[in-house]
Amino acid sequence: MPQRKQPHEQTKTGLGPISRRDFALSSVAILGAASAPHAASDPRPVPSPPPAAASARKIRITVNRWNYELTVEPEWVLRDVLRQQLGLLSVKDMCNGHGACGSCTVIVDGRPVLSCMTLGVECDGANIETAEGVADSRPDLIEAYVLNHCMQCGYCTPGFLVTAKALLDRVMRPAESEIREALGGNLCRCGTYPRHPIAVLEAAGGRA
Ligand code: FES
Ligand code: FES
Repeated sequence: MPQRKQPHEQTKTGLGPISRRDFALSSVAILGAASAPHAASDPRPVPSPPPAAASARKIRITVNRWNYELTVEPEWVLRDVLRQQLGLLSVKDMCNGHGACGSCTVIVDGRPVLSCMTLGVECDGANIETAEGVADSRPDLIEAYVLNHCMQCGYCTPGFLVTAKALLDRVMRPAESEIREALGGNLCRCGTYPRHPIAVLEAAGGRA
């Protein structure tokens, strides 16, 4: 049976009985990126597998530290596999899958990729992280985003978070210019751009 992680330690704030982390994570849940339980070596049951056609193929992927065996059609993009088969609704679509907005960004084998431009079958054997996983792996980043008001409607936010997480995995303390460059492919219709480098710098600084 999968083992659940121990609850994270909480840091109390001026928000009364609600911890800063709980406040941040509840905000992410509202964005469609609720935290998921972690890590298992056995394949996790898939909620509702679609009917398999003759052309369907089986793939094995690890998503947010859960292993899955999925049946996918060759033309299905990773975004749809994650959303429709695994229910990971943080993976968004702001440009009708034209590769222009970054809201569908997920981390595949350590690199941020546009899941609307990546076929599910290409990801056989891949290790994938979505914003749901970031909520567990970098709660400090989520907290920095919430407390620095990096979102208005919040639709683009999971894509920004995932891109920022991939940067912090690669560079522990990135310069502001590196953050701006890394986030350059993520669009925000609400114009929250100035807030993102502040949050990422804060999360990077708090990591020491
Ligand atoms: S949905 Fe816009 S880049 Fe993928
Ligand atoms: S916060 Fe609304 S699109 Fe970015």
